[in-house]
Amino acid sequence: MSSITVTPIAPALGAEISGVDLRKPLAADDLAAIKRAWSDHLVLRFRGQLLSDPELMALSRSFGELDPPGPNPYGKPFLTEFPEINVISNVKKDGVPIGNLGDGEAVWHCDMTYIETPPMAAMLHALDVPPSGGDTYWANMYMAYETLPAELKQAIAGRRAIHDATYNSAGMMRKGMKEVTDPREAPGAHHPLVVRHPETGRAALYLGRRRNSYILGLPLDESNALLDELWAHATQPEFTFRQEWKLHDLILWDNRCTLHRRDAFDPSVSRIMHRTQIKGIATIPYEQAGTVAA
Ligand code: SIN
Repeated sequence: MSSITVTPIAPALGAEISGVDLRKPLAADDLAAIKRAWSDHLVLRFRGQLLSDPELMALSRSFGELDPPGPNPYGKPFLTEFPEINVISNVKKDGVPIGNLGDGEAVWHCDMTYIETPPMAAMLHALDVPPSGGDTYWANMYMAYETLPAELKQAIAGRRAIHDATYNSAGMMRKGMKEVTDPREAPGAHHPLVVRHPETGRAALYLGRRRNSYILGLPLDESNALLDELWAHATQPEFTFRQEWKLHDLILWDNRCTLHRRDAFDPSVSRIMHRTQIKGIATIPYEQAGTVAA
């Protein structure tokens, strides 16, 4: 019998899990209960967990194989000892950033959808948090699809979009990329706009990030107009959960059916997060008969 408690945080998504020590290997019952809660709530928050980097990696491996971070603007891992861990931080040591994304807003996005098989999940562990600001928001993309007006569902049925690889969510160009002036020529994977979640079999709107997105086969202005409507719908506050970080919070999210963004914060305070990702499988269009895992 699992001893964990699951408390929903927001109507759309998000639940807090208590009654477990994440530094230790998870008992089979607890892992099963956490996975059930994750499938139901999409984003899980664990409070008061201080994990070392090896403990964070071991915990992440309970959910699957680690997926290393994508290329950052500086072209090398932030933690040479643990290249599987990404550092999200505004802190600089000797003038050199110790992590990615700085202190500005990180716009709505889904992680690394510019590759064919984006990570299925990510964990973000708060090691230093500002007294205010830097809140992170997640949005439920099952809900976004289910509530989409019928004409928009019709307009995107069977369509794919380009997921641009050029810029990260803080607007920084990734190492080795060139500026994109026409989204139709953006480098990056092409994914269905509506995907089938491989475990739940549910339909989720799959938008990636707005910048340089393009719906294949449409004139550019029609693609832009349709994308603007989809993004406005998908990021309505009622589909979201807001995370006001406390020290040693750990958040696990499902990258296949959520988007996330982060508020800017005061550049004079420090914020340090360590992040892991878990490998996913290739996206499939919702219309395609699904590989739904048992
Ligand atoms: C991210 O987009 O992964 C970072 C979110 C955050 O800094 O809260």
